[in-house]
Amino acid sequence: MISAPTPVTVVGIGADGWDGLPEESRAALRDADAVIGGPRQLDLLPPECAVARVPWPSPLRPAVPGLLAAYAGRRLAVLASGDPFFHGIGRTLAEVLGPDTLRVLPHPSSVAYACARLGWPVEDTAVISAVGRPVAALAAALHHGRRLVVLSAGAATPGEVAALLRDRGYGPSRLRVLEQLGGARERVAADGTADGWAPAPGDPLNVVAVECRRAPDALRLGAVPGLPDEAYDHDGQLTKRHVRAVTLAALAPAPGELLWDVGGGSGAIAIEWMRTHPSCRAVTVERDPVRAARIAANAERLGVPGLRVVTGAAPAALAGLPSPDAVFVGGGLTAAGLLDACWDALPAGGRLVANTVTLESEALLAARYRRHGGDLVRLGVAHAAPVGAFTGWRQAMPVTQWSAVKPAGPPGADQT
Ligand SMILES: C[S@@+](CC[C@H](N)C(=O)[O-])C[C@H]1O[C@@H](n2cnc3c(N)ncnc32)[C@H](O)[C@@H]1O
Repeated sequence: MISAPTPVTVVGIGADGWDGLPEESRAALRDADAVIGGPRQLDLLPPECAVARVPWPSPLRPAVPGLLAAYAGRRLAVLASGDPFFHGIGRTLAEVLGPDTLRVLPHPSSVAYACARLGWPVEDTAVISAVGRPVAALAAALHHGRRLVVLSAGAATPGEVAALLRDRGYGPSRLRVLEQLGGARERVAADGTADGWAPAPGDPLNVVAVECRRAPDALRLGAVPGLPDEAYDHDGQLTKRHVRAVTLAALAPAPGELLWDVGGGSGAIAIEWMRTHPSCRAVTVERDPVRAARIAANAERLGVPGLRVVTGAAPAALAGLPSPDAVFVGGGLTAAGLLDACWDALPAGGRLVANTVTLESEALLAARYRRHGGDLVRLGVAHAAPVGAFTGWRQAMPVTQWSAVKPAGPPGADQT
């Protein structure tokens, strides 16, 4: 963090510009030695606001510390779009300067305006940002009957949203494009279904309101782990649905946590980890490049394009990865040093879960269980299937699962 003894005032401004600002915000802008902002926001300042105007460089994030340091000790204001702490510059400023150095004067966000116009309770409306991020993340938020607002990156976003909805079986969803919310040129620029969407030129300042409707023949994906196996493109290297649900329960993802999925296969464990919360992150390590490409495609289709796929063999490929909160080993258990590398990488309280169907790997897991404790379980799933004119159980290969929490204390202080 850089030191800035003088508070930096962050002023939210809307499409209604200077006219829409309360007096406190206007005074903060008039009294500043300099105002930093995006070119569009700076253009909203009237001539009477005769301060130095400093446009943010691009890319923005790396330039922020240097620019703020250059103005340290001077009266500085930062112009932000709408509510600065809602998908805005506020996050970066708080990270760089610390929240106590900021004086924040928010304006209604685009989502506040959108919900006001639509009559949607904000707390029941999911928000997905396509600003600087792939629109594919929208796929993880699709549930029949749910209301979403997509923050657009520009005029092309509504068409991309419609295409994604059609592709994921949500073509009957209703879309409305709301432009220039709160400004004189506010309008509903388009209203229709994703299936019937016709691209039309529009204003880059827009949000897309979506009422999700799943097509009757589309695969239904629930909100918890254990998606149907058909949700994945795979070559058989897939932790099947029932075992996957148990595995995710043992991994116990929490918001913001990072998973290593070692031996990614089809990526299902990492993908379902990330789908539990938008802030969950995962790295999957897969030695087979065809499977690695398939993992990336599955992640994109299921709404977690941020999954990091490392093509390489563990344990070597684990070197340099950020420290995980949990590790899943779905492949490569017999590779020399793999389990040790995973266990050593975990912080105290970190979880390790390993699955296997082979006796050789099972012996390794039994040894770990003796050494570290935890849970060693055998999962047997049988599916009812036709036996002639009758029905019988078809037993899948039993899966042995070891899960353990790394104890606190110095290295070697575990129960050996
Ligand atoms: C049973 S699959 C895992 C299935 C996966 N959990 C899923 O649900 O899609 C095991 C995978 O581990 C990979 N693998 C085996 N040894 C490995 C190693 N040392 N490093 C990286 N990947 C490995 C294999 O190529 C295979 O794709």
